[in-house]
Amino acid sequence: MTLVLKREDVGSNGVFRLVVFDRRHVDRTFLWFNDSDLARMLNRRKSIDLAEHMRWFESLKDRQDCLYWAIETCDENKHIGNVWLRDIDPEHRKAEVSILIGDREALGKGLGYMAVELLTEYAFNHLGLHRLYSNVLAFNTRARRAFEKAGFKLEGRLRQDRWLGDCYEDILIMGKLSFTTGVAAFAFAVCVCFKP
Ligand SMILES: CC(C)(COP(=O)(O)OP(=O)(O)OC[C@H]1O[C@@H](n2cnc3c(N)ncnc32)[C@H](O)[C@@H]1OP(=O)(O)O)[C@@H](O)C(=O)NCCC(=O)NCCS
Repeated sequence: MTLVLKREDVGSNGVFRLVVFDRRHVDRTFLWFNDSDLARMLNRRKSIDLAEHMRWFESLKDRQDCLYWAIETCDENKHIGNVWLRDIDPEHRKAEVSILIGDREALGKGLGYMAVELLTEYAFNHLGLHRLYSNVLAFNTRARRAFEKAGFKLEGRLRQDRWLGDCYEDILIMGKLSFTTGVAAFAFAVCVCFKP
């Protein structure tokens, strides 16, 4: 399967949709990026000013290593967060998944894991990626659970990988492989085992 990198909407699960990150998502994202609690979860240590934020937004359309979507609710068309793939590696067909539910009212309702699940299905079946992973700070239990519920496995721990400004913290590597890979591996194993 060829790796197809397109900037298009992912689709909807009836509760929310993942749409291409656009100008209308910039303002709320700017607030979330500068929210100290959220920044700590994402290990962003610096606040950013509006000019820098706009440069980042303008750069998105040309980037080959990153795809970015906004999460909008179906009932109210409310922008509640973002999901993105970064470090997209076309040779090894892998990418890092990140998610941010910035709207506090939307937290803890299962939207986080559902957004990861929807993006994962799209990344494997439409983009042709083979492996997805996330680097989760060890204290971020909610993120770890959200990825686990979306089918990610704990693959390893990088001890004291990140400096948080006042202490070091471990990184948990959560990973998920595409289902087709499993089928292919099973077919291969059957061929090898039953070879006359
Ligand atoms: C991580 C995040 C996406 C999870 O989304 P969410 O919608 O709040 O989480 P969900 O409702 O899908 O819940 C996922 C699991 O976490 C659990 N959870 C919810 N709040 C929790 C908390 N404060 N502490 C521990 N677990 C919590 C839920 O109970 C659920 O597990 P369960 O079904 O076994 O009970 C969201 O909290 C977020 O955007 N956080 C800030 C940014 C961030 O941490 N991003 C991840 C970087 S890798």
